[in-house]
Amino acid sequence: MKKYEKPTINRVDFTMASKYGSPLKTQKIRNSIDGVDVHKLTENYGSPLFVFSQKAIEEKYKKLYEAFSSRYPNVKFGWSYKTNYLNAICKIFHNLGSIAEVVSEFEYQKARALGVEGKDIIFNGPYKPKEHLKTAVKEKAKIHIDHLFEINDLEEIADELDIKIPVAIRVNMDTGIYPQWSRFGFNFENGEAYEAVKRIHKEGKLVLTGLHTHIGTFMLDANAYREATLKLMDLKNQIEEDFGYEIEYIDLGGGFASKNRLKGIYQPPEVIVPTADDYANAITNAIYEKNKSDKLPLLYLETGRHLIDEAGYLLTTVVGYKRFPDGRKGYILDAGVNLLYTSTWYNFNIELDKHYEGLNEPSMLNGPLCMNIDVIEENIMLPSLERGSVLTISPVGAYNYTQAMQFIRYKPAAVLIDKNSNVHIIKEEDDLQTVNFKERMPKEL
Ligand SMILES: Cc1ncc(COP(=O)(O)O)c(C=O)c1O
Repeated sequence: MKKYEKPTINRVDFTMASKYGSPLKTQKIRNSIDGVDVHKLTENYGSPLFVFSQKAIEEKYKKLYEAFSSRYPNVKFGWSYKTNYLNAICKIFHNLGSIAEVVSEFEYQKARALGVEGKDIIFNGPYKPKEHLKTAVKEKAKIHIDHLFEINDLEEIADELDIKIPVAIRVNMDTGIYPQWSRFGFNFENGEAYEAVKRIHKEGKLVLTGLHTHIGTFMLDANAYREATLKLMDLKNQIEEDFGYEIEYIDLGGGFASKNRLKGIYQPPEVIVPTADDYANAITNAIYEKNKSDKLPLLYLETGRHLIDEAGYLLTTVVGYKRFPDGRKGYILDAGVNLLYTSTWYNFNIELDKHYEGLNEPSMLNGPLCMNIDVIEENIMLPSLERGSVLTISPVGAYNYTQAMQFIRYKPAAVLIDKNSNVHIIKEEDDLQTVNFKERMPKEL
């Protein structure tokens, strides 16, 4: 039976049309993820729901790992916990051979609780409280120093434990990408990084064994990694010559782009995002060009977003709709921007659960929060959806779950679809107990 909808007259909004035209009939449809029906997922596990695909993670990992290992004999990945630290996700990466890259004592503890040994943890970040730094030192973690105060802390720890501590320093630099990430570590161009090493050498309590840089995120220019590697290798050569240290490893951080659509960029990700081979070529060629030692350094990568973004989906259900005074159709979804932190920067794919009759019209997607800012898509061409329609939002695997905020509604569940299309719950939906767990009521009240 055809559905009746009251007719409306809509102004054609030319600001919505890109030079590729406005899609009046195109509908992007996804009724399943890895063979599992999206309605079955929301019926069984609730809506909204984060869904992760193990197959997608493993495929992406293997592709990137092969790109590097086929060019370079000594490469290791460190899973960037902050990108997604759901335990099951971290475990998949560890099972694939990744060590852990953490930026806080909380993430460090999470990795340890998952069975990762201290020696297999890279400890980054601008704030490492001293007592936790000490634990990490005792457990032989790879400490990446961010600033001079940390050098002092580590020297005190070296005295307290009566040992020499192997360390790496984080270096920031100009790679032609702006704005430059110069907040973390020691600067290369103004000699700060070299001075830090000189300082470490003078006291003799720490031993420099590694150099680290993380030049930014969603890097669309693979050549920036060539620049970074050349500079890190120059520093390595100079340090080895001047101070006699053996730099065992260099760490090029993360930052490889995923196939997400950055706001303000017209071309599709397939056109503008460098391939795994582009990134691998840029880095490994630069190492070969600059290496002066008879040994090649171990190469670490802390790739986050590139490996997990496309493996994550958010399912959300239409709970109602209305017609706004400007003529636009407004849909109320059960997922809001508090679950989609990265919606500020990216235009996600929004896919429909089936084909809907009729032409597309300018629509707006709003979340369930009683806040005017809860806008997932301001202008999107959609056919007439129904109450109960399930939309799939992707790619949302990177940074969204970790930064999703419990606000107004409970934080939703997350599931993992394994390679045999079995669904596993990896995080239950929050409830009143989880939210109230740490609250305390003063007796006087
Ligand atoms: C030190 C460090 N390593 C790795 C990453 C992961 O970056 P990405 O997700 O862009 O690969 C980050 C993210 O900011 C970082 O700060």
